[in-house]
Parts: sequence; C-alpha cells; structure tokens
Amino acid sequence: MVKDLKQLLEANCGRQHELFAKYLNPQLVRVLRTISFDNNYVRADGPILYDEKGNDYLDLLAGYGVFALGRSNPKILKALHEAIDLQYPNMVQMDAPLVAGLLAERLVSYMPEGVDTVFFTNSGTESNEGAIKFARKATGRKRILFWDHAFHGLTTGSLALNGGTEFRKGFGELLPGATMIPMGDIDALKMEIEKGDVAAFIFEPIQGKGVYIASSAFHKEAEALCKKHGIIIICDEVQTGLGRTGKMFAHQHWNLNPDIVTVAKALSGGFVPVGAICYRRSIYEKVFTGMEDCVVHSNTFGRNILAMAAGLATLDIIEEDGLVDNAAKTGQIIIDGIRSMQDRYEMLSCVRGLGLMIGIEFGAPKSLKLKMGWKMVHALNKGLFSQMITVPLMKEHRILTQVAGHNVDIVKLLPPLIINEMHAERFLNAFEKVVADCHKFPGNAWAVAKNLAAAAAKSKRMAKDEERDRIIQTHSNDTAGILDDVTTTPVGGGEGI
Ligand SMILES: Cc1ncc(COP(=O)(O)O)c(C=O)c1O
Repeated sequence: MVKDLKQLLEANCGRQHELFAKYLNPQLVRVLRTISFDNNYVRADGPILYDEKGNDYLDLLAGYGVFALGRSNPKILKALHEAIDLQYPNMVQMDAPLVAGLLAERLVSYMPEGVDTVFFTNSGTESNEGAIKFARKATGRKRILFWDHAFHGLTTGSLALNGGTEFRKGFGELLPGATMIPMGDIDALKMEIEKGDVAAFIFEPIQGKGVYIASSAFHKEAEALCKKHGIIIICDEVQTGLGRTGKMFAHQHWNLNPDIVTVAKALSGGFVPVGAICYRRSIYEKVFTGMEDCVVHSNTFGRNILAMAAGLATLDIIEEDGLVDNAAKTGQIIIDGIRSMQDRYEMLSCVRGLGLMIGIEFGAPKSLKLKMGWKMVHALNKGLFSQMITVPLMKEHRILTQVAGHNVDIVKLLPPLIINEMHAERFLNAFEKVVADCHKFPGNAWAVAKNLAAAAAKSKRMAKDEERDRIIQTHSNDTAGILDDVTTTPVGGGEGI
C-alpha cells in the first residue's frame, strides 16, 4: 500500500537528524547541531519557514537561491498541479516536446543577441559541464580559464574550475587545462589567452563565494580580448540569473555579450531540478554536426514537463510580480541600512552586492580590546567570526543566513526576491543587535564563539571515536592500517554553496 506522505512525515516528526546522520551525512548533522541550525522545519510560506512549534524563521538563504519566488508560491503550485493533471506525454525521448520549445523561446528572449539555442539540464553544475564540452568541441582547444574564488559546481569538470582548494583537495587531477587566474587581472588573462590553446573563459558576474564583483573596465577589456582571440565566453548565471541582482541577468549590468549563459537554481521556482545552457547557434553547429550527432550531448530528465512548466510559470511570475525591480529596491534598502551602521561598528568593514545578492564583510578592529577578541577567535578557527554573526541571527532572532565561503569573515544574504521592506527591517534590526554584541569585549558574543569552537572540537573527537568504533566493528579481524587513515572533516560550518 502506498503510504500517505503527510501521515508518514507526521508519524516520524523529529527523526530527521537521526535518520540523516545514519543514512546520509553525519558530518553535516554535527555541523547543524554545533551551530544551532538543527531546527525542525515543517512548513514553509514565502520567505518564512515554520518549525513544529509554529515559530517563524526568516529565510535569507532561499535554498541557496532556488526559492527566488518564495516557498509554496501558489502560482508555481498551480502550474505543477496542472502539468501533472494534464497527463500529457512526458519524456517520450524520441520526441521533440512542445513545452521545452516554449520555455526555450522565452529564455532566449532575455539573452544577448545571437544566443538563441538552449540545452536543458538538471542542475547548475550540469549546465557548466555542458558549457565546457561545447566550448572545447567548438574551438578544438582544451584549456578553460577561471577565476580564483570561483564556484561553478561540484561535479568533476565544474569542480576543476573551482577557485578554492577546499572543495578540490583529495580528488586528484580533474580536468586537464583548467587554469586559474586572479579575479579582475587583465594581464594574467591576456597572458594565458595569448598561449593560443584556450577554449573558454568562464566567470560568475558576481561571485557566489564572497560576493566579489570585478570592475566594469575588466569586464569590457576581458570581453574584447576573448572576442579577438575566438575564446568562448561562458557567463555562469546559475546564481545571479533570473532577477537576483536587480536585472533579469547580471551580465546586463555591464552590457556584456557572452557566447554561453548557464542557468539553473531559480528557473523552476525551486520545486524541480532544472538548468539550461543558452548558447550561440554557431557553437551548436560545431557540436551537433549532423544527424548522427543529434544526441552527442544529451540527458534523460532535462526536458521533463514538470521542470518546463515550472520554468514557464517562473518567468511569468518574475515579470508579473515585478520581482526584478523588487530585488533591486529591497536589496538597496538592506545595503543602505548596513552602510549606515558602519560608523558605529568598526569591524563592519564593507557591504557589497547587487540586488538581493549581498556580502557583508568584517575586518580587524583598531581598538585594543576588540583586537584581542578578533585575534583569539581567528586563532581558534579562521571562519569562526562569521559564525558569531550567523549563529545568534538564527538562535536569537530566527533568521537564516550563511557564511560566504571557507575561512572568510563574510556573511552572505541570498533571500527570496519577494521579500519586502518589513522583512528587510526585521533583518537590519536583528543584525545591528548581533553586531553591537560583537563590539563588546569581553562579552557574551565572544564567549559564544569560544563555546562554538569547543563544541566543534568535541564533535570532531566524537566523530573520530564513532568512526573508529564503526571500522572496528566492520573489520574486526583486520583493523591494522585502516585506523591510521581515519580522519574527519573539519567543522567549518554553514559555508554551503
Ligand atoms: C555560480 C554557480 N554555478 C554553479 C553552481 C552549481 O549549481 P548546482 O548546485 O545546481 O549544481 C552554483 C551553486 O551554488 C553556483 O552558485
């Protein structure tokens, strides 16, 4: 008998961390517990999550940006119900589904002139994997240039283009010819391009990790250089696309003219995995060279009707509800609000971003007492200070935010594009209280940081012990050698993607 999902969830309410630790990822559960993010969310509406006691949490993370339209958006729900109820033939495969054509037609209407062909994927990383392949085949060259701090996904090819070592280490050589250049360094870009073997330059118009933005001059020079040498420009808009930055696509802030734009995250309103590679017909023609090559790059689920229907509804909602303008307006309220605090709080060094993609950076204080605290916390863990912001925001104010990368003093906001001035105010008030607490040394905020570090260290020791016990049980006859290799992931906590 098929079980009723509602009943199943209610009957097992509260077991999520136990089951997740047992069957999926115990390290993640340890992190959630350590940073007090181990809530029991049972309902979601717009930018608000609710736990089983009915407490409301303001979600400024939006599932890493996928819930741009807010959660449980009624128009998306309607589109999905319709798509199921129609009993329309889905994924026939030897077929050319109408709904994919309709979504492709809508998507290319936002693209630069000539970017008129679409390949649908299931995720951001798959979009970038495809873009890498297309660029290599279209140019007959191998090398892909990317920036430091870049994030393009975690499958092998995209991971090779990751601008931090944390995600790459231990996985061996990933993609021959992947070359990192310093962000915004036009000379470095030129030097690599002039070697003559570069297929593509991939970049995020605003980097997800750290929310860094290159200068307008760099963008223009880089584009001219790539065009001159026939290098394919891949603009990764997986996170920045679909209104997030106050333009439909972020490359429009600089009037850029990329050859490939990769999309994912918000495209289905969060419900169905989906992504897209939007690219020039000239690239298509070099990849899909004849009938025998018509599926030389393909996938199974890419054009499924749920993803396509949700995509069409998402684009309608973004336009009808004015979400691009709302992102620009509400983002500016938050940025201005934080800027206005900078005079009062010396560690609040910088706020940057566009629309509702915002990074708040903290820096070393000048006053003697705070300096002591700053040094202590950084000696314990380089990423700990940011947790002094995100943890009380969650624990005391029920606001979900994230740290913007490994070992950085940057907090990131990626809220749904539907948030309004009231939500912005709720965040700004809470943020100011948390930042003010951090500016009292000695004080509770610093004690919390020490406790956090101690809890992380304890959790790490326990994880190691548990892993030893597990290995002893599994290999009770021959444990020699294996135990020496037991290591645990350091608890950085909450960096996410
Ligand atoms: C800019 C960018 N590219 C690619 C990805 C990977 O997307 P996915 O997690 O859907 O594979 C992400 C995810 O955060 C991203 O931010």
